[in-house]
Amino acid sequence: MAHYLERKVGFELKADYDLVTAADRASEQLIVERLRSHFPTHAIMAEEGGAYAGSSNFKWYVDPLDGTTNFAHGYPVFNVTIALEQGGELVAGVIYDPTRPELFAAECGGGAYLNNRRIRVSAVERLNDALTSTGFPSRKRHQNINIHFYHQLAMATHGVRRGGAAALDFAYVACGRLDAFWEFGLNPWDMAAGLLMVAEAGGATSDMRGGSVTLQSPHVLVDNGLIHAEILDLFGEIFQGRHRFPMPQIVAEAGGK
Ligand code: IPD
Ligand code: CA
Ligand code: CA
Repeated sequence: MAHYLERKVGFELKADYDLVTAADRASEQLIVERLRSHFPTHAIMAEEGGAYAGSSNFKWYVDPLDGTTNFAHGYPVFNVTIALEQGGELVAGVIYDPTRPELFAAECGGGAYLNNRRIRVSAVERLNDALTSTGFPSRKRHQNINIHFYHQLAMATHGVRRGGAAALDFAYVACGRLDAFWEFGLNPWDMAAGLLMVAEAGGATSDMRGGSVTLQSPHVLVDNGLIHAEILDLFGEIFQGRHRFPMPQIVAEAGGK
């Protein structure tokens, strides 16, 4: 991956603004080959097309390069993320950031770890004191309603980061660098390891209205658990079209002075 980053890898478009690079494909090929040789009966769902039905109740979710747009521009925020499900339940997940380097790992019932040290979500109790993050998928971005949520949360918190690599957003909630993360339209491979990571670190996971989240429900909110109800209240208002903080008017002299 470092090799591709150094020579500034080119990209292709899977759809409007949805990039894929040779690094995505090489990483996926390597991971899928290894999984197939070690676990020939396991099913695999991988973003760039590596799918196997398998003959057991184990299934792997592979995002060979999460944060491709960042990677293609040389912006150093990306990772590789892999998770294992057994009988429909997530049992293990990893998120690896080669730039720092940091390995986040979680096992169902066994906790969450950053480079082998136990991690926990933050202790922030009020949304006012929270640092949050979100993401905007490249697919169908003209239909994404998240800008409304972005504005409200930006006004109600210390800020909203937009790192561009969803799995790291989950990992950072799990280790307390962020207090909350939400995104509309995630794929199973973006969030499988991350959902387990946050849960094992003591955080809360739900859909945008507080319902339980599965890998098939693409709209996801995760946080430290202490500010979950407060965020859901604010989200509820936004869904009803009520804006606690009105969008600023654009005035002729830019800068708003
Ligand atoms: C994307 C990134 C991004 C998120 C998108 C994902 P990809 O994954 O995680 O942060 O906003 O929803 O699709 O395409 O770079 O693997
Ligand atoms: Ca991804
Ligand atoms: Ca990817």
